[in-house]
Amino acid sequence: MEIVVIGLGYVGLVNAVVLAGYHHKVTGYDLNVSKIARLKQGEAVLSEPGLQELLNKNKENLIFTDSAETAIKDKEVAFVAVDTPENPDGSANLVHFYAALHQIAKFATRPMSVIIRSTVPVGTNRLAAAYLKEESPLAFNVISQPEFLSQGRAVKDMKKPYRIILGVAEGETKKTVKALYAFYTKKHVPVLYTSPESAELAKYASNNFLALKISYINEMARLAEKVGADIDEVATGMGLDPRIGKAFFKAGIGYGGSCFPKDTKALNWLADKKHTPSETLKATIKVNQEQPKLFVDKINQRFHGVLTGKKIAVLGLAFKGNTTDVRNSPAYPIIERLLSYGAEVVAYDKSAIEEFKKNIDANEHLTYSNQLLSAMKGVQAVVIANDAKEIKTLKPSDFIDAMDKPIVYDGRNLYKPLAMAKIEYHSVGRPSSR
Ligand code: UGA
Repeated sequence: MEIVVIGLGYVGLVNAVVLAGYHHKVTGYDLNVSKIARLKQGEAVLSEPGLQELLNKNKENLIFTDSAETAIKDKEVAFVAVDTPENPDGSANLVHFYAALHQIAKFATRPMSVIIRSTVPVGTNRLAAAYLKEESPLAFNVISQPEFLSQGRAVKDMKKPYRIILGVAEGETKKTVKALYAFYTKKHVPVLYTSPESAELAKYASNNFLALKISYINEMARLAEKVGADIDEVATGMGLDPRIGKAFFKAGIGYGGSCFPKDTKALNWLADKKHTPSETLKATIKVNQEQPKLFVDKINQRFHGVLTGKKIAVLGLAFKGNTTDVRNSPAYPIIERLLSYGAEVVAYDKSAIEEFKKNIDANEHLTYSNQLLSAMKGVQAVVIANDAKEIKTLKPSDFIDAMDKPIVYDGRNLYKPLAMAKIEYHSVGRPSSR
């Protein structure tokens, strides 16, 4: 099929590159001219495992352009994968989304299926269909297909998702999506057809449920610390019950990224607006906002409330390991609070420093390093903020070599407390070794 993908962020680019591997002819469109230039040169742009290889392999079926007209005309299917950032009140901002619809209406030359992959408020599918009907004489078949891929494993998730949900309104055809996704049927991926509203809500409800699990386990971790339990053992014990499941039960300094923080606020906004406020969502958001602060407060208490002049290394600036994405990274509140207590911070990340700097004020007490071992040299404490591979594989001897008196605050529970017995090691919801 002839497909255009509008918006080449994580969702759009991964969709484009993977679909090109299933005999579809895919044109990727983005208004970022330099991104298109790099893609045309064969550069994958994002550091997603497997993406570059797949781009090389599927290049025969891929075209990239910054011309909306070239991208859209003559296509049978349009994927809308633009970002829907957060408005100040928590609602989703649909400016880019409607700009994409406007381009489709303007440049389409034949009836088209429009597949909505952006995360949009419940009800948007029908509004989008009405908008297109008003703007163009052509017939559009608008389908909501929420995206469930996660960064760091996006290619894998796209090739074989846990499920796909297709929100198709009454009277609309399923023919195009059935042909488009014949490869999923062959792979036995569950395909669920629902109403557009159910598909849209299923996306938000899924992300919010995962965020809720994280906040729940973080709250239990606070209690575990008070009563001498080990939260990882608790989570393992709970997760063995298939009704609960072990996924997204890792305690730490809270969730970040471009999805959970935004989507929890957007659904909370919607629930309030519909006069059915969600107390669990409000609690999820609150627990998550407190989590990094409480962690820094423990460090402050350990140093008897005197962090002034103490040199502290914060390892991992991206919101999680295996990505360079710093959006809503817990490293921000961690570093800001450490600085507010007067600490001297050395911030380490292998490749996210330049991005990170864009969202934090320059400060003479904050320096950066992309060299892991030298970032830790001579500091009074190390704070682990994400699970990047090179951080995960640090050994006790690395901390011993770097610091006079090693003190480690592990915000991701990366190491077994027993393995760290020789140094002062604190983590989240587990007994400390001192
Ligand atoms: C998330 C969802 O997992 C995807 O299914 C969804 O498609 C995506 O949002 C989206 O809406 O586009 P992502 O934001 O890439 O994907 O990252 P996750 O791996 O889900 O992690 C989110 C945050 O939760 C990270 O900060 C991570 O460190 C944290 N986390 C995750 C925990 O603190 N504990 C856990 O047990 C799991």
